[in-house]
Amino acid sequence: MTAQIIDGKQVAADMRAELKEEVARLKEKGIVPGLGVILVGEDPASQSYVRAKERACEDIGIYSDNNRLLSQTSQEELMALVEKMNKDPKINGILVQLPLPKGLNEAEVLLAIDPAKDVDGFHPVNVGKMVVGEKAFLPCTPHGVIQLLKRSGVTIEGAEVVIVGRSNIVGKPLANMLIQKKPNANATVTVCHTRTKDLAYHTKRADIVIAAAGRPNTVTADMIKEGVVVIDVGVNRVEDATKKRGYRLVGDVDFEAVKEKASFITPVPGGVGPMTITMLLYNTVESAKKAAGIEVE
Ligand code: GUN
Repeated sequence: MTAQIIDGKQVAADMRAELKEEVARLKEKGIVPGLGVILVGEDPASQSYVRAKERACEDIGIYSDNNRLLSQTSQEELMALVEKMNKDPKINGILVQLPLPKGLNEAEVLLAIDPAKDVDGFHPVNVGKMVVGEKAFLPCTPHGVIQLLKRSGVTIEGAEVVIVGRSNIVGKPLANMLIQKKPNANATVTVCHTRTKDLAYHTKRADIVIAAAGRPNTVTADMIKEGVVVIDVGVNRVEDATKKRGYRLVGDVDFEAVKEKASFITPVPGGVGPMTITMLLYNTVESAKKAAGIEVE
């Protein structure tokens, strides 16, 4: 079997076109969704993610307040900027790009963000609401993964899902979202991690494998069954002298070999990545609607 490639760029483009129309309709009512962006330090991967987020805002008509802080920024300065954005009515969402440079207290910063503006879904209030199945901002990457599965026609209900990786940003929230008694969930979920005794034992019995380990070749063809659906959340830079920039991006999955056995697979780049940004835009628009008293579903 050769897998159908899930085109995250196309799914994201479709969703962004819908959002763009919605933003235009909101503007007619005098509502302009706004995103406050904070990047601390010079990490090249974070810089490129943040640039892509700012560009995406501009493209669909979301106002973005872009802030670059030096890596030596103090905790107090960062907290003050978050507080300022909490009070700013032009800002409906606050994005503090993670990871923060060493020496800054990430948990304290995330806790300071007004949960009503926490479009990343990282505030403990939103995490708690998500776990008990209440309406909350859902974290963007896991939400994007579920949208990709849904829009590709993959049945999640009753599926054996194996997630490889237990990060706070992807693995843990995704597991929680997929076990909810809700549409596009109701899965049986196993979370594997660096202390899992026999990773292949788990991945071999999965209907859906979601790789979010942050390591190339974590999932290889011998570790999966024929017809499995594979979602690759990994973004890894590997040296490549043939490229002008000296590296290329690969996921956590051995794409070329796995695609010969899977029924669906996401590429890297062009799979989950564009969806993460799209769900951030979605959350920001929802937040603006809520702030303006417009009912959100
Ligand atoms: N770092 C990696 N992914 C994310 C994300 O979705 N949001 C933020 N704020 N930082 C990240």
